[in-house]
Amino acid sequence: MTHIIHPGPFPADFIFGVATAAYQIEGAVKEDGRKPSIWDAFSHVPGRVHNGDTGDIACDHYHRWESDLDLIQSMHLEAYRFSIAWPRVIPEGSGAVNAAGLAFYDKLIDGCLQRGLKPFATLYHWDLPIQLQGYGGWTNSQTAHAFADYAQLIARHFGDRLASITTLNEPWCSSILSYLYGIHAPGEKSIDATIAAVHQQHVGHGLAVQAMRAETTHVPLGIALNVHSVYPADNTDQNIAAASRFFDFHNGIFLDPLFKGHYPESFIDALGDRLPTGWQDDLSTINQPLDFWGLNYYTPARVKNAADANFPAAQQLSPTKDCEKTDIGWEVAPSAFSDLITTLYANYELPECYITENGACYNDEPQDGVVADGKRISYLSTHLDAVFKVVNNGLPIKGYFAWSLMDNFEWAEGYRMRFGLIHIDYATQKRTMKNSGHWYSQLAENHSNLK
Ligand code: FCB
Repeated sequence: MTHIIHPGPFPADFIFGVATAAYQIEGAVKEDGRKPSIWDAFSHVPGRVHNGDTGDIACDHYHRWESDLDLIQSMHLEAYRFSIAWPRVIPEGSGAVNAAGLAFYDKLIDGCLQRGLKPFATLYHWDLPIQLQGYGGWTNSQTAHAFADYAQLIARHFGDRLASITTLNEPWCSSILSYLYGIHAPGEKSIDATIAAVHQQHVGHGLAVQAMRAETTHVPLGIALNVHSVYPADNTDQNIAAASRFFDFHNGIFLDPLFKGHYPESFIDALGDRLPTGWQDDLSTINQPLDFWGLNYYTPARVKNAADANFPAAQQLSPTKDCEKTDIGWEVAPSAFSDLITTLYANYELPECYITENGACYNDEPQDGVVADGKRISYLSTHLDAVFKVVNNGLPIKGYFAWSLMDNFEWAEGYRMRFGLIHIDYATQKRTMKNSGHWYSQLAENHSNLK
């Protein structure tokens, strides 16, 4: 069903942008001193990624960054959110710095500034240098310290030119999806490893913020979370309780330490004894004041009670047959987006927010040079309208980044799932602006006329 509305007008200082991540677009995995990340290794293991796809070439953005930035500029956007590949700048995770890696991001950041684009950098979008995985990756506190050193380097080198730095992108994915469900790299299935990874990522974030603040007070610092918008499957007491447990275990274990300085009680009661020794002493490091936080939202989570699910006893349901879904099977529910933002601001003392990701998977292909992806326009317009409503209610949402600039390596799904505003023909690397890209450009252009 396509339903297009024209959200806004947004406040004049509201920022529109697009987002990407290094491993999903850059390719050039062996060039200029880059060493492998856990995603290079994982994607090359047969059976881990759909169709055996890897990020070896991806969108070849490493060589095409200039024309890609030109495209963003042509879309009248004000900001570009990208991630820095840790294995390019510190190829072994800690120790030697790779000047060629820094040089690539120098060019990219200067290229943004020359085109009037605010560079929003993310430090960690899941491409952990593989050397660190050898020591247990995020389950080891050494990785948290290495991350802080890397963050400090980035703040020192780029801090005066960046519009913001996000420490971690979606730590839920790089802990629960990666260490419990085994779907993302490193593909483990262990509760102990999961809990250690959750905690050490928090510590890494806190240490990184401290290290970056010591380098520069100029650049706003934050973290991007994929907070689940949780609903009980129905109104039975059992399922309402399950939804609340699900919130604690999938949202609270991230939000609470970051913004309240402690883990949810229900989590501590159930699994607290599995946290790394001395975890209490880390809480003040984790609970750093932030300048902003990022919300990544795609779809709601509907959950029911399930006695055998151990983390926690609640199970996420697949969307029903008759609900509207994108091509990746995720339910389309814009009202869950506004409800989520409203609930979070009611329950947490949160700083300003950017919607650091929102978008939809529709796999439309070009026909005669046109990608008629009306369903993506519908998704974007209704979700932007949800953001507009909460902005109108006075909540401090300062910008919106569409996921994604272009089709790219969609992790375990490989290249078959397309989220781009720009279509990529992977055989030729040809970029074709989709109708949604034209629609979003128009929205951004109208908005820029307000300034
Ligand atoms: C988010 C990721 C992003 C992309 C979108 C579809 O969870 O941050 O890299 O894969 O989902």
